[in-house]
Amino acid sequence: MMIEIPALLDADELARLRAVIDAAEWIDGNATSGYQSALAKRNRQLPEDSEAARQAGAMILEALGRTPLFIAAALPLRIFPPLFNSYEGGEAFGIHVDNAVRIRQGTDFRVRSDLSATVFLEDPNAYEGGELTIEDQFGVQQVKLPAGHMILYPSSSLHRVEPVTRGRRVASFFWLQSMIRDTEARRTMFELDMAIQTIAQDRGHDDRAIIQLTGVYHNLLRRWADT
Ligand code: NI
Repeated sequence: MMIEIPALLDADELARLRAVIDAAEWIDGNATSGYQSALAKRNRQLPEDSEAARQAGAMILEALGRTPLFIAAALPLRIFPPLFNSYEGGEAFGIHVDNAVRIRQGTDFRVRSDLSATVFLEDPNAYEGGELTIEDQFGVQQVKLPAGHMILYPSSSLHRVEPVTRGRRVASFFWLQSMIRDTEARRTMFELDMAIQTIAQDRGHDDRAIIQLTGVYHNLLRRWADT
């Protein structure tokens, strides 16, 4: 399941975040790659432990924490600190699958990657190419979103970033471990949640059937969730 989270960052937040990362020093993106992806990857990144990455990453995490659609879709347990990348002059990231387990350099913080996320941080009209191409069970999808919007997709899917042939593509990316490991179970929880919210708009949250369905949601979460 791929889910778009529109307007994770508003224009003001985006400008503040860009000011932080645009002033920072970028390095060869292969600093974070596994062996297979190092073969495919040509881009630049902010160093994981840089002050700019920490500061801008904290802004992304803060935005995630106040976005109900993200919480409902991801049911996050642990989020890897957001990283930042940049592509220009034909740079690209060839087809790959993200590593199953991500370990924060120099710490024992580890995340099983259930979901991968990209937050687009550049106006799509300002660059050519740079689509995130994702192959999932429903076929091949190409994603290029307005600045401040985010896409969430299963980390198990094959994906790539198309060459950027004009301008510069800037994005944040990260992985997260969900409370619900299984993609189908997580999707079911999300659909149940969305349906409850929709019906509750007509009938109110104190409607007896809504209360029961909300109980079903939490009881399923209790059965399935890692905490
Ligand atoms: Ni990837």
